[in-house]
Amino acid sequence: MIPAFDELQLRLPRHIAVIMDGNGRWAKARHLPRFIGHQRGSEAVRRVVEAAADMGVEYLTLYAFSSENWRRPPAEVEDLMGLLRRYLRRDLAEMHANGVRLRVIGERSRLSGDIVSLIENAETQTAANCRLNVTLAISYGGQDEIVAAARAIAQAVAAGRLDPAAVDHQLFASRLDTAGLPDPDLVIRTSGEKRLSNFLLWQAAYAELVFVDTLWPDFDRADLEAAIREYQARDRRFGGRRE
Ligand code: FPP
Repeated sequence: MIPAFDELQLRLPRHIAVIMDGNGRWAKARHLPRFIGHQRGSEAVRRVVEAAADMGVEYLTLYAFSSENWRRPPAEVEDLMGLLRRYLRRDLAEMHANGVRLRVIGERSRLSGDIVSLIENAETQTAANCRLNVTLAISYGGQDEIVAAARAIAQAVAAGRLDPAAVDHQLFASRLDTAGLPDPDLVIRTSGEKRLSNFLLWQAAYAELVFVDTLWPDFDRADLEAAIREYQARDRRFGGRRE
């Protein structure tokens, strides 16, 4: 018997990036502490990583902690760091067994030493996996990333190691944290907010943006499929025109 062909697979986005928003509102609506919202949010991360791997998505990038999130009250920052620690410690074995390669982008010098070690360990341990590439953006800001790339290029030019004429899109992209990753095809933001909030500013130049009202802790496989179907209904022209 020929298996039923799933239409979803027909034009699957290769790289999906997600702005996970609404943990606080989810908790507030239930008169629960914000921490519970973030905890439920990390469960949604597990669900979505599993669903993306099952669907055959190649790259999934998740905005876990922005460079602006450092401005939150210290107790909330510590709660979020605790959840990230737990994820990098406890979920690593399962991700590794499922063929997930984990990478982290963002400003590591602001993170505590033990988290940096957990990140390095997770990246090394999963480096040869290729079923699904998960990238966590932690202490990440798109503007900071662009400024750092520009600074590195300027330093190379000033030192005579780089000809300014050689600076093009490709070279610039190779100096970003995301060097080696394809640009996202689809960026999803949950919770009804319609902003990029400093996420993958360079990389999302031609991404389709899908905004959904679901709050992140409620986001599941069905929501991911719905966002992919919306992406599939879009007409991507990359600035050109359809004949
Ligand atoms: C937005 O909720 C979400 C975050 C600040 C970060 C996302 C963090 C997680 C999903 C949990 C930990 C992540 C991993 C990878 C284990 P918000 O607090 O801004 O919500 P609000 O806008 O409703 O207040």
